[in-house]
Amino acid sequence: MNTSPAEALVRLSDAHVVHKARSGGVFTRDRVYALTGADLTVAPGETIGVVGESGCGKSTLAKVLVGVQRPTSGTVSFGGRDLWSLKPDERRATVGADTGMIFQDPSTALNRRLPVRRILRDPLDVHRRGSAAEREQRVRELLALVGLPRALADALPGQLSGGQRQRVAIARALALDPGLVVADEPTSALDVSVRAQILNLLLDLRERLGLALVFVSHDIQTVRRMSDRVITMYLGRIVEESPAGRVTDGSRHPYTRALFSATPGLLEPVEPIPLTGPVPSATRPPSGCPFRTRCWRADGECATRMPEFTAASAPGHRFRCHHPVEEGRPTRTLVAQAESATGTAAGAAPADVPPQQHIREPS
Ligand SMILES: Nc1ncnc2c1ncn2[C@@H]1O[C@H](COP(=O)(O)OP(=O)(O)OP(=O)(O)O)[C@@H](O)[C@H]1O
Ligand code: SF4
Ligand SMILES: [Mg+2]
Repeated sequence: MNTSPAEALVRLSDAHVVHKARSGGVFTRDRVYALTGADLTVAPGETIGVVGESGCGKSTLAKVLVGVQRPTSGTVSFGGRDLWSLKPDERRATVGADTGMIFQDPSTALNRRLPVRRILRDPLDVHRRGSAAEREQRVRELLALVGLPRALADALPGQLSGGQRQRVAIARALALDPGLVVADEPTSALDVSVRAQILNLLLDLRERLGLALVFVSHDIQTVRRMSDRVITMYLGRIVEESPAGRVTDGSRHPYTRALFSATPGLLEPVEPIPLTGPVPSATRPPSGCPFRTRCWRADGECATRMPEFTAASAPGHRFRCHHPVEEGRPTRTLVAQAESATGTAAGAAPADVPPQQHIREPS
C-alpha cells in the first residue's frame, strides 16, 4: 500500500513481541516469539483481513495496532507520531480517540455491573467529550447506530442476548468516532444464527462511517469477502499481503494457498493441499522460513534464510518465499504436487474452517 506515513492511520515498522514463557528454567525462561518483524500500514477506509492458524500471532498484531500491547521492539505510529514515545496520558488520548477494539467474547469484554448507558458513556467521560447532555445524546445515537432499542439503555449486559451484547461492544468501540476499528474474532463466541447479522452490521457501519477495519477471524472465506487486503500470518510473521480478490487463486505463498484450499468451492470442488506435521512451537521457531517444516516446496535454502518480501505483479501484493507458487498456477495442480512431494493423500485440512457465513458482498 503506497500510503505516506502522515496519511496512514497506523503504521507498524519491524514490530516484535516476545513474551517470557512459563516453561524453561528459573533463570532461563523460554521466550515466545508472538510477533516477529511486522510491517503493516492501515490506510483510512480500508479493510484488512488477518488469517492464520491458532497461535500465529493474529491477536498480538491486533493488540499492537490499537496500542494495547507494547511491542518489545519496533515502532507503532499513529498519524506519523511514534506512539510509545508519547507521554502515557497523550498516548491514551491518541489511541482512545483514533481506534476502537471489538473482542471475541462480549460477555467478558463488558463490565457486568454497569448498565448499557454507563458502558457507552464511559469512553466519553474518560475523554471528556461534550457536556453531560451531549454525552447522553451520543449514547442514544450509538444505540440507534448499532440497531439497539433505546429501552435497553438501562439493561445490564447479563440481561442481553449474545448478539445484543456484541452490538453494545461495537457501539462502545465507536463512541469516540475512531478512524480505525480492530475486530478480533468478533463473531466466534456467538450463535451461528446471529453471526451474519453482526458481520453485516460491521460492513454497514464501515460504509456509513468510512471506517478502516482490521478483521481477524478463523473463517477465512468471510475474511476474504469482507476485506480489501488479506494478511497471512505464520508463526508470528506476516508472510503474504494480497488483494482479497486474488487471494484464493492468485496468492503466491504456499501457506496462503494451502489455507484457502481448505474450503472447497461448491462448483469446482478441490481437495485441500495436504500439509504434514504440526505447527512448530512459537518458543522454538525453525531457522530460516518458519513454514519449512510443513512446506512441500522447501529446500536447503529455506532452512538457512528467511526470504525478504517480493512484490508480485499486482499492486499491493507481496510475499516472503524463496520458491513461490508460480503466477496463475491453479490450486488443483498444487494438490498433486504437494501429495507427491510429501507422500500424503489429500484430505487433511490445514486449518479449522467453520461453515461459511451468509454475508452480503461488500460494495
Ligand atoms: N501473555 C503471553 N505470555 C506468553 N505467551 C503468550 C502471551 N500472549 C500470547 N502468547 C503466545 O503468543 C503466540 C501468539 O498468540 P496470539 O494470541 O497472538 O495468537 P492468535 O493467532 O490470536 O491465536 P488464536 O487464533 O488461537 O486466537 C502464541 O504462541 C501464544 O501462546
Ligand atoms: S521459503 Fe521455502 S519453506 Fe518457506 S514457504 Fe517458501 S518454499 Fe516453503
Ligand atoms: Mg487470537
